[in-house]
Amino acid sequence: MYNDNPTIKNLDLVKVVDESAQGQVYGEVALETAPDGKRFYIESYGCQMNFSDSEIVASILGEAGYGPTRNLEVADLILINTCSIREKAEDTVRKRLRVFDKVKRKRPGTMVGVLGCMAERLKAKFLEEEKLVDLVVGPDAYRDLPNLVAGAEEGEKGVNVFLSREETYADINPLRLQSNGVTAFISIMRGCDNMCSFCVVPYTRGRERSRNAFSIVAEATDLFNRGFREVTLLGQNVDSYKWTNPETGEVVNFAGLLRLAAQVDPDLRIRFSTSHPKDITDEVLYTMRDHDNICKYIHLPVQSGNSRILDLMNRTYDREWYKAKIDRIYEIMPDCAISSDIITGFCTETEEEHLDTLSMIDYARYSMSYMFYYSERPGTPAARKLTDDVPLEVKKRRLQEIINRQTALSDELNRQDIGKTFRVLIEGESKRSDADWKGRNTQNKMVIFPKVAGTAAGDYVYVTVEDATSATLLGRQTTPSN
Ligand code: SAH
Ligand code: SF4
Ligand code: F3S
Repeated sequence: MYNDNPTIKNLDLVKVVDESAQGQVYGEVALETAPDGKRFYIESYGCQMNFSDSEIVASILGEAGYGPTRNLEVADLILINTCSIREKAEDTVRKRLRVFDKVKRKRPGTMVGVLGCMAERLKAKFLEEEKLVDLVVGPDAYRDLPNLVAGAEEGEKGVNVFLSREETYADINPLRLQSNGVTAFISIMRGCDNMCSFCVVPYTRGRERSRNAFSIVAEATDLFNRGFREVTLLGQNVDSYKWTNPETGEVVNFAGLLRLAAQVDPDLRIRFSTSHPKDITDEVLYTMRDHDNICKYIHLPVQSGNSRILDLMNRTYDREWYKAKIDRIYEIMPDCAISSDIITGFCTETEEEHLDTLSMIDYARYSMSYMFYYSERPGTPAARKLTDDVPLEVKKRRLQEIINRQTALSDELNRQDIGKTFRVLIEGESKRSDADWKGRNTQNKMVIFPKVAGTAAGDYVYVTVEDATSATLLGRQTTPSN
């Protein structure tokens, strides 16, 4: 759910997720829609759901006469779409608010709005704690933004943190602000009913609900017609997607949705994130196997490799069960890549239990992992019932061991790709050199290779891998070998 492959060399201990997209500021793409209108500036933090929500917000604000700007200094409305998942995520937001405060002092009348999970968690308390904030809007209340902004323009502070059981924003066409024109995210469900004991998401995002399958397929089709070649279906727990057609009573499950999306066009790649190990079915695995355009990549967060800790986390599976799931995936799709999220130093975790997590990395052969040390979140079951008793230095040391193990494994797995030829979707220019393209293979590995005349972003090309690091494959474009 995060951006890019974080398993890079020389990671500093705490900044484990590649934070390059955190705090991303969105572009000027639609300024022409509001040439003399007011401007909003939006910064996003957290998971892809939040980034996707910012595009929904942009679309809603566009209809209210606000166009996006990248320039904080000229914005009439400054928005920050926030994350509460770990303490550090919230600290970052507080720091940004100090910067917005300065801008507001220079330009009185500028409005500041806090959106997303932190808005939902803190509610009206935000207005007390942060005097500069004019608006506090939770993830299910974005349709109310034009109304709240109109109130704020009159000097009225506004809060809407109502959590809905139905809202999926199905009819809103997101304004693709973060777009490379090739890959896009489609939100297919909202909320989460899982109640993992460490996690704040069920409280900030509310109950799980699935979006109308036809609106998802229509969005994918529209994206394809506009030149996009890859969509990622997003949800906290995509495998529990379930939508009932109100007219026919027909139920579409996640495998059914994957089939519908795969049929949009053979040249539209389908990815999805995130899968909860307990919910991913054989039907989904066979559907993936049977469709070339469904990418052979599963993000299957384990969180811990130890059964006692998994039980305390309320993950509803144990070590053996998870291992059997991994076996099943490789049995049905030997070429599938699997990645993970790992939390180290959860309440009462012993050294031996930590070793179980290390050995799980080897067993599952993760292509990469997002690795964190446990951060207690107020109000969660773990905060209420368990003691956060692993000392910070121990958490950090265990995290470093996990990172080292994963990095070595990613390096090893990527080196095994040397000599192989992959079909790669070109996403754009490599960050390092405008003479190189970057793209991904079906396993979601980033591939960098020199541009060949006549190729463009959005093209599929064949690339033979010549070298590899733990984060990227380096290659050369070749003609198809088969
Ligand atoms: N719905 C997804 C993940 C959502 S949050 C899933 O179930 O896998 C993304 C990741 O953040 C989680 O997988 C977990 O590894 C991490 N995370 C969540 N709460 C955390 C906490 N309190 N401390 C540290 N990491 C946490
Ligand atoms: Fe959080 Fe668990 Fe839901 Fe993922 S499945 S969002 S970790 S409660
Ligand atoms: Fe996502 Fe952070 Fe909320 S991970 S769901 S933005 S708490």
